[in-house]
Amino acid sequence: GGPVEVDISDIPPGGSKTVEWRGKPVWVVRRTPEMIAALQGHDDQLVDPQSAQAQQPDYARNPARAVKPEVFVAIGICTHLGCSPSNAPQGGNSPSLPADWPGGFFCPCHGSTFDGAGRVFKNKPAPTNLEIPPHRYAGDTRILIG
Ligand code: FES
Repeated sequence: GGPVEVDISDIPPGGSKTVEWRGKPVWVVRRTPEMIAALQGHDDQLVDPQSAQAQQPDYARNPARAVKPEVFVAIGICTHLGCSPSNAPQGGNSPSLPADWPGGFFCPCHGSTFDGAGRVFKNKPAPTNLEIPPHRYAGDTRILIG
C-alpha cells in the first residue's frame, strides 16, 4: 500500500498513537517542552548520539530525530531481537533501570533503555537506535508515513 496518514490533532501533549505501516507498529509521540529538553545533556551515555548507525531519513538526523521536535515518529520495534518496547516512567524506580535514565522507551525483553528520541541509552543490548520511517507533513496536523 501507499503512505499511511495519521491525524495528530487528537494526540494530547505527552501522548502517543500507534499506527501500522508495512506490518510494523509506528509510534507517533507528541512531545512536551519538557520531553524536548530531556533529549539534551546525556550524549556521553548514548551508544550513538548522532544516530550515525541508525536507519533513518537524513531529515531526521538531528538530536530530536524528527522533522519537528514536537512530534517523534519511530518504528516501535526493538533493534535487538524485535520485541516491542513501551513508554516507561523515568528511571530510578526499578533496580533494572539506570537511575540517571532521562526517560523514553524501555524494552522489557532484555532491558534495553532508549531515550526520548529512541537512542540507545547505556542499558543495552540493543545495538542501534530505533528506526525512523520515512514521513512528511501534509498540513499542520497530518503526517504521512511511508
Ligand atoms: Fe529488546 Fe532484546 S529485544 S532488549
